[in-house]
Amino acid sequence: MPATFTKSALMLSLLLGLGQAHAADVDALAAAHGIPHPAVIAHRGASFDAPESTAASYKLARDLGADYLEMDLQRSKDGVLFALHDNNLQRTTDVASKFPDRKDSPANAFTMAELKTLDAGSWYNKAYPDRARASYAGLKILTLDEIIDIAQANAQHKPGLYIETKEPQLFPGIEKDLKEKLQDRGWLSPAGSKLAKSELGVGQGKGKVILQTFEKNSLELLQKEMPQVPKILLLWVGEGSIEPKSKVTFAESGEKDKNAFYGKQEPKSEAEFKQWIDYAKAQGAIGTGPSAKLSHGGDQSYSDLVQPWMNKYTHDQGLLVHVYTVDEPVDFEKVMAAGVDGIFTNRASELLKFYKRPAAASVDQLLKNNGY
Ligand code: G3P
Ligand code: CA
Repeated sequence: MPATFTKSALMLSLLLGLGQAHAADVDALAAAHGIPHPAVIAHRGASFDAPESTAASYKLARDLGADYLEMDLQRSKDGVLFALHDNNLQRTTDVASKFPDRKDSPANAFTMAELKTLDAGSWYNKAYPDRARASYAGLKILTLDEIIDIAQANAQHKPGLYIETKEPQLFPGIEKDLKEKLQDRGWLSPAGSKLAKSELGVGQGKGKVILQTFEKNSLELLQKEMPQVPKILLLWVGEGSIEPKSKVTFAESGEKDKNAFYGKQEPKSEAEFKQWIDYAKAQGAIGTGPSAKLSHGGDQSYSDLVQPWMNKYTHDQGLLVHVYTVDEPVDFEKVMAAGVDGIFTNRASELLKFYKRPAAASVDQLLKNNGY
């Protein structure tokens, strides 16, 4: 074995096994997991430019060259895995007109055949008239199978899948269902496959799937079912996650804007933050997904959990940091300077430009190429 290989293998085993990674080593740490560094994670697809979690959004993210298609996983009443962020269907579909009596029901109270009758695109045209397209009307909710088909369909670029178990307590056994589906579709191939060095994108390599969750119990189940697949523990400050310093609730705070309230939340102590990182590592996670406080606020602005000391501590434990959800260059700059290793974004086209990996064609052209 050449001396250089021995040295680098030793360094990686130190990074992965014993922790103590320094900023300069994080490239090697990500490479060891088969994860691009920094990573472009298309949040619900290219969801600034097309309706979230639909074919238009995922095809655009893929063709732009995003590393990962991000999705929130749920399970229909008849057991089909599909992508949807919210607990119910009101915000992003026409459930209120198709199923008026059941409009407030959780999505898992519907069969896949029922979910497939819904229009998951027209809401976007109403919400964002400046980005509306007639072809978005009538877009469907997608099954995991359909998203896998999309991820595999571009011969020039194959993104990976970045899958969140959303409200997993509502879906007992979803971690096992997910394993079986990924296995059936050939997405759990052994790490270190000869495709890992492919230029075709992360979807060909050993970091092709990343699993993410806010829930400790789901992280443990994902680790049990798929120990070989990289996992990220999502973090925020509030109930079920990091304990806040202040006990004052939003209702008591007098704040009008919920996200302005979240933006002021901070961990109870340094020790409280660190114990979540330690827990993630102990459970086999390869990194964390902390929230960001955005420069211009908005409904994706939360507590600033990517302060340099936080990222340094996480790196020192041998873990990566993928921050959610950042869309503007001013914030790309800020979180990268703070030391993150990848970004969940609704604007994959902008993040790719920021990383000097611009897409070969415009958003408009790529949407047209896909018939939108
Ligand atoms: O999964 C990371 C990020 O997506 C978490 O926020 O609410 O958009 O799923 P959310
Ligand atoms: Ca998510």
